[in-house]
Amino acid sequence: MKRANFLLIKKAADLRHSDITPKSVYLDRRKFLAAIPAAFLAGKEMLSPSARALAAAKLPNLVKSPLSTTGETVNTYEDVTHYNNYYEFGTRKNQPATLAQKLKTSPWTVSIEGEVEKPLKLSMDDIMKIAPIEERIYRHRCVEAWSIVVPWAGYSLSELLKKVSPTPKAKFVAFESLYDPKVMWTPEQAGIPLPYVEGLRLDEAMHPLALLCVGMYGETLPPQDGAPVRMVIPWKYGFKSIKSIVKIKLVTKQPPTTWNISNAPEYGFYSNVNPHVDHPRWSQATEQRLGEGEKKLGIVVPSRRPTLMFNGYGDQVASLYTGMDLKKFY
Ligand code: MTE
Repeated sequence: MKRANFLLIKKAADLRHSDITPKSVYLDRRKFLAAIPAAFLAGKEMLSPSARALAAAKLPNLVKSPLSTTGETVNTYEDVTHYNNYYEFGTRKNQPATLAQKLKTSPWTVSIEGEVEKPLKLSMDDIMKIAPIEERIYRHRCVEAWSIVVPWAGYSLSELLKKVSPTPKAKFVAFESLYDPKVMWTPEQAGIPLPYVEGLRLDEAMHPLALLCVGMYGETLPPQDGAPVRMVIPWKYGFKSIKSIVKIKLVTKQPPTTWNISNAPEYGFYSNVNPHVDHPRWSQATEQRLGEGEKKLGIVVPSRRPTLMFNGYGDQVASLYTGMDLKKFY
């Protein structure tokens, strides 16, 4: 699925989010090239902006990141895009793949505000230019004890936060997802308050592993995985990785978070992956890696693997929590 980029060569910094070739176009590029003279194609695309927004598009000039987890098998695109939690588009794992196709991801604006010297309202084109887009392969561990390995694309959230100059009063970062009642479920249907909100302590948000994510598998994010921009925080349970972000606010106090509002005894603010602190209703000691199992008599029997402290990122992040009782701050 390589892009025929001899047609349009631009530096990453010159590229607009809306310039990126839609998947439907590049999959069809060969047929397309045979039929139409190249001179006519240069500088033109065949789909309208709204049609483009619906399709995953190839991300050019991806840089490999040294922060990638190495040596583990990456999950298939099919697994990662058809087994999702996105309650605004259904409470069953297979629903977001269909229902989230209604999400309108262009135009999109992210507001960065609160305790900052230079508040910003950014379009996706602006967001794509803040820093080079890196491919980062991370383990992603859900609180429900399944996990996946995903090649995400984005850059450290710290790159964006540095642009707004947090004031000395900023201690936490509060995130908010889009809530569009025209296409999304009601809070009653979803069973959680909406819009979905999340938060991090400022030092957690500034950690290089905290990824502002704009893609996966070398393409823009599909809607069910949180298009057009989401967080990925690999040492925390998956629900901290908020999708389809419209607001990032620097605040003085610990902000409310969706699952903690819904059920505080089960879901804390920190939610670091921790095999020694069980969920009240199940063990967190092991996990099911999607797609992993032993073939017996032609059937794949799912196998479990031990869960790693901080999801295996302890060397990088444990110092953020020195002196804290992680049973209390779960
Ligand atoms: N963000 C929003 N806006 N809505 C959600 O329901 N679910 C969370 C998180 N971000 C959720 C969300 C949960 S519970 C998980 S496990 C991850 O997204 C799932 O991410 P994935 O579907 O890309 O694997």
